[in-house]
Amino acid sequence: MAEAQAPLRAPKGTQDVLWPESTRWAELVARFARRVGLAGYGLALTPLFEEARLFRRGIGEESEVVGKEMYEFTDRGGRDMALRPEGTAPVVRAFVQHHPPVPWKAWYVTPAFRYEQPQAGRYRQHHQLGVEVLGTDDPDLDVEVVSLAAAFYGDLGLRRVELSVNSMGCAEDRPAYVAALREYLASRRDELCDEHRGRLEANPLRVLDCKRPRCRAVTEEAPRMVDFLDEACAAHFGRVRAGLDALGVAHRLEPRLVRGLDYYTRTTFEFAATALDTAQNAVGGGGRYNGLAEAIGGPPTPGIGFGIGIERLLLACDAEGAFPLAPPVPDAFVVDLTGGEVARDLAEELRRAGLAAERAFDGRSAKAQLRQADRSGARLAVIVGAEELAAGTARVKDLRGTAPELAVARAAVVERVRALVAGREGGPS
Ligand code: HAM
Repeated sequence: MAEAQAPLRAPKGTQDVLWPESTRWAELVARFARRVGLAGYGLALTPLFEEARLFRRGIGEESEVVGKEMYEFTDRGGRDMALRPEGTAPVVRAFVQHHPPVPWKAWYVTPAFRYEQPQAGRYRQHHQLGVEVLGTDDPDLDVEVVSLAAAFYGDLGLRRVELSVNSMGCAEDRPAYVAALREYLASRRDELCDEHRGRLEANPLRVLDCKRPRCRAVTEEAPRMVDFLDEACAAHFGRVRAGLDALGVAHRLEPRLVRGLDYYTRTTFEFAATALDTAQNAVGGGGRYNGLAEAIGGPPTPGIGFGIGIERLLLACDAEGAFPLAPPVPDAFVVDLTGGEVARDLAEELRRAGLAAERAFDGRSAKAQLRQADRSGARLAVIVGAEELAAGTARVKDLRGTAPELAVARAAVVERVRALVAGREGGPS
């Protein structure tokens, strides 16, 4: 006997995005593509799964994303694979594999998988819009990348987004900083949260990321990476900040901004939506990763990029009343009271002419069809009853009530609809 089973649902921490909400997603991606297209970025599509060692080497075993959250599996050929927890390492892997000319500018939209404890704004499958640029360490590129993200938030009408920046230094200057930080944290070990009291030696930078009040109080006074930058890194960071100022991109220095992925060097940044609850208010972040290409077996190649979480971004839009949901509506709804052939043909005729047309099915009553036409939000109803069928005409009715209802010849329906939709409301055509 079949076992009684619970109904199937989307896995914990994931969600279905259905119409009409999904129309917002489509528009969001289109706006992003437009925004980054203006700066010369092209779409990169790479597999959703990769060899797990890409992420181990690229992001770092020590990071939570790889160490605790990665969706890893052995495939049927015995290979150790992982669903991508983020978009950067795969794009850099593709760059190394195909060595396109530099600077190489790519954008992407992708799901990302992390085995997190789900809560509002934190999911096991989330989606990111992002860019990556490979092949130059020019600080003006950092300015371009950061300001692209800032402009995109602006495109959506978001106003309450704050930008924090920091520099993580580089292989030359970071060891001295980490040593100083470790020494400082050890001197105040007893004040740290339970998790970090025991773990500070292994990776003191992680403590800076801790949001618990005990750790926050200690790290408030911790040594700052920006005070340890060598001459080249300090000059780089200075030029980035001056560039942001020059472009009017408001930002503030956040010396504790270390981010959760281990590949960062020099510039790091994060955008926080202040309309959201502070726990999950990062709506985007990124930075330089000048050692990443080499870490995964490629030639030393500087790079920088960002990722923007789509779900959180939309939550921020909702919280601000920005980027409202505007599903497309039909230009015309064909109401056929004569058996359906007219609706079949007329809807197709309108669509071939580039107009959005809908119709009812299943021989519904006149009343039901008109109700459906109203609900669809259509601008116009094109109605054909027995009388119109005999006369070879159709009635074109303005469902928003601004133009007079008119009977027009069947052959003139498309032109009439087009004129009304374009706002050229004339008399009979
Ligand atoms: P990330 O900060 O880990 O960076 O993720 C980027 C954005 O994705 C976050 O700011 C947040 O909006 C969203 N996000 C991350 N995890 C979740 C989650 N569990 N649920 C919902 N949204 C989430 C990266 O992934 C880097 N690859 C960014 C980058 C690109 N750095 C350089 N280039």
